[in-house]
Amino acid sequence: MENFVAIENHSQEELNQILESAAAFKNAPYSEILKNKSLITMFFNPSTRTKTSFDLAITQLGGHCVNIEPGKSSWGIEIEEGAVMDGEAEEHLKDAVKVLNRYGDALALRCFPQFKNWQEEKKDLILANMVKWSDKPVINMETISHPCQALAMMQLIKEKLGSPKKKKMVLTWAYHPKPLNTAVANSAGMISSIFGMDLVIANPLGYDLDKGYIEQMKLNCKQTGGSFTQSHDMEDAFTDADFVYAKSWGSLEQYGNFQPDIHHQNKHWIVDEQKMKLTNNAYFSHCLPLRRNMLVTDGVLDSAQSLIYDEAENRLHVQKAVLKALMK
Ligand code: CP
Repeated sequence: MENFVAIENHSQEELNQILESAAAFKNAPYSEILKNKSLITMFFNPSTRTKTSFDLAITQLGGHCVNIEPGKSSWGIEIEEGAVMDGEAEEHLKDAVKVLNRYGDALALRCFPQFKNWQEEKKDLILANMVKWSDKPVINMETISHPCQALAMMQLIKEKLGSPKKKKMVLTWAYHPKPLNTAVANSAGMISSIFGMDLVIANPLGYDLDKGYIEQMKLNCKQTGGSFTQSHDMEDAFTDADFVYAKSWGSLEQYGNFQPDIHHQNKHWIVDEQKMKLTNNAYFSHCLPLRRNMLVTDGVLDSAQSLIYDEAENRLHVQKAVLKALMK
């Protein structure tokens, strides 16, 4: 494996190998297999879980992590190729990547989209340029997709449900007052389809995920024996679900033109005890962070079926597996 930047770049077999390695790390967390190896993480956006778990993952394997926050603890970075750098940024991404390559053994990037122009931002150019300019492996820590989160979720599904194949997975939109990144949903849907789940994506009208992702998920389901359904009815989607995964995301129809009046009409898209009662005693999870009692009620989050902390823990294990696959 050269890089780990998108779930859809990997086969079920390859992802399974990572998940098996993650399970082994869960049983035996400490070793020296990455002794003297260094990971450099670059965060353009805040993080609690990703930052902590990557730092601890490599540390617990004998290596070291250096964290860079462009424009905060390190120089502001220009990301546009060919830019005349007459703005605030003091350094170009190309130069930063080539310098950091001389110090570390892998780079990792978090850089959320800007919510200005989806057709441009869906090209994920900052990540693509980092891969292009880096001669060391690159890991996506959330850009327009969040592959490490998807691995953590799939590890959870396998732990709790055994084989994911034909299990009913409901990826449901939930209300948040602001438009959020589609990254987690893109990767959660992708990995569920690669593992042959019966995937249902539930969201309000006007909140469909990008067509490119949807078409790929449909194709994956066809190839793996799963099924793909889109629903605009939360109760209908939840019926007989085995696993409910909640996430809020911004409408691509309102991208760059957020319309609060439309968005706030969806406050009833909350995961609550009544809707969970429609399921097949489903497990529930969310990537975190989340706003309690806006997206999901306390009753669901604190129930025995809630796996939110288990998924967060799994970030540590799956990232060790990714680091091992890329760096050892
Ligand atoms: N789920 C996740 O990526 O959490 P952070 O934003 O805290 O890293």
